[in-house]
Amino acid sequence: KKAQKTVFTCQDCGYTTPKWMGKCPDCGQWHSMVEGKPKAASSGLKAPFDLSGPGSRPVPIDSVDGIVEDRLATGIMELDRVLGGGLVAGSMVLIGGDPGIGKSTLMLQVMQSLAYAGLKVLYVSGEESVRQIKLRSQRTGSPSPNLFVYSEIVLEQILDVLDQEKPQAVVLDSVQTLYSQDLTSAPGSVSQVREVTFKLAMHAKKTGIPTFLVGHVTKDGAIAGPRLLEHMVDTVLYFEGERNHIYRVLRAVKNRFGSTNEIGVFEMAEHGLMEVSNPSAVFLSERPEHASGSAVTASLEGSRPILLEIQALASTSSFASPRRTVLGLDSNKVALLVAVLEKKVGMPLMDQDVFMNVAGGVRVTEPAVDLAMVGAVASSFLDRPVPRDTVLMGEVGLTGEIRGVGQMETRIKEAAKMGFEQCLAPASSLRNLRTPSGMKVVGVKSVSQALEHLF
Ligand code: TYD
Ligand code: MG
Repeated sequence: KKAQKTVFTCQDCGYTTPKWMGKCPDCGQWHSMVEGKPKAASSGLKAPFDLSGPGSRPVPIDSVDGIVEDRLATGIMELDRVLGGGLVAGSMVLIGGDPGIGKSTLMLQVMQSLAYAGLKVLYVSGEESVRQIKLRSQRTGSPSPNLFVYSEIVLEQILDVLDQEKPQAVVLDSVQTLYSQDLTSAPGSVSQVREVTFKLAMHAKKTGIPTFLVGHVTKDGAIAGPRLLEHMVDTVLYFEGERNHIYRVLRAVKNRFGSTNEIGVFEMAEHGLMEVSNPSAVFLSERPEHASGSAVTASLEGSRPILLEIQALASTSSFASPRRTVLGLDSNKVALLVAVLEKKVGMPLMDQDVFMNVAGGVRVTEPAVDLAMVGAVASSFLDRPVPRDTVLMGEVGLTGEIRGVGQMETRIKEAAKMGFEQCLAPASSLRNLRTPSGMKVVGVKSVSQALEHLF
């Protein structure tokens, strides 16, 4: 038998080469090549999902059964909505997020919820002993005999156990700790993480067991992990939040069985994660009275409008090039909007440090929040508060024009529900708009018009 050749795999991007290199020619990373056995041809398949099976033949498309989406509700509404209505049989869901953000806690609570509903479920941990899992579970709920826990890192062992125990749902925590004996590389390496995910996905498809796979992501997202795996799984959820804030947002970045813009909101509490069913109320709860530098907007997250407080602080800089420090918003957008304020409104922000933040530690990227960002910066610079009962919506263009945003009615309704009485909105979005009683909608065409109205 020919001696097995080895390959070198870049731990950053997954590039493989037969000889060792100091620098990865693909991604340019230094010292990232790790030696391992090449993958067996059988497991090198690129399209693992919904295979017709060995020996099967192509069939006429009209004879194929429609997609039967048998959804299993987890009982945790914020998760079920993000999944698109619950778990799909045989699906593989990857949960990514920073270490310590609450992935294990969420997964344990999901398993507990399913166990209370009478399902036999299994939580496999490669990070904690069964006693540690038990301790955590005592914080988050009372134990159910339907929830099985298992501490193991050898994948083949875990697959055997799955075949014997036949749970109705399983969590594997985390992909970085699992280890396939078919490969020589270490747990957490690109090749291991791929192999483990591939085999688990195949197993899920074969058995129909909905499978959650937890993966740690480092701050820059560059890891041997979730980013590489996104194409191998059905659904990718990211659990986000600022660690020292209590709010957590669960966001779908890929979902074969639902939309990707739904979010779930949680609060990390003493006894685990609590669902936040009215995020607007929560995110506005700490809004300061009559303070400058704060503006409220209605952002649409999936099917749900959420009111958010955008905060800005503009203060005279002691640096040659003033700072733009941004949390939860796109920093390029902030730079652009500050430039618009300078050029189009004549607000001298050149020598100002500008800090921006979304209250509650949430992240927003929707263009509809532009006007609130502009409003918050202007409010801080002028040191005049935005009227407390006012919500700002609209995308800001490079010439300072206010551009239309979608689903105005939904947003305005949410604002009215939360007690707001005035809404600044793009003039172009007001046609055929039905407004709730007690809500005054002011159409604006430009940033300067909006600021004139506000201050
Ligand atoms: P964890 O689920 O271990 O994070 P991850 O699996 O993403 O690494 O969450 C750990 C943090 O959550 C830790 O700082 C403690 C906190 N926590 C609570 O505040 N309340 C709780 O009930 C639990 C179980 C954890
Ligand atoms: Mg964990």
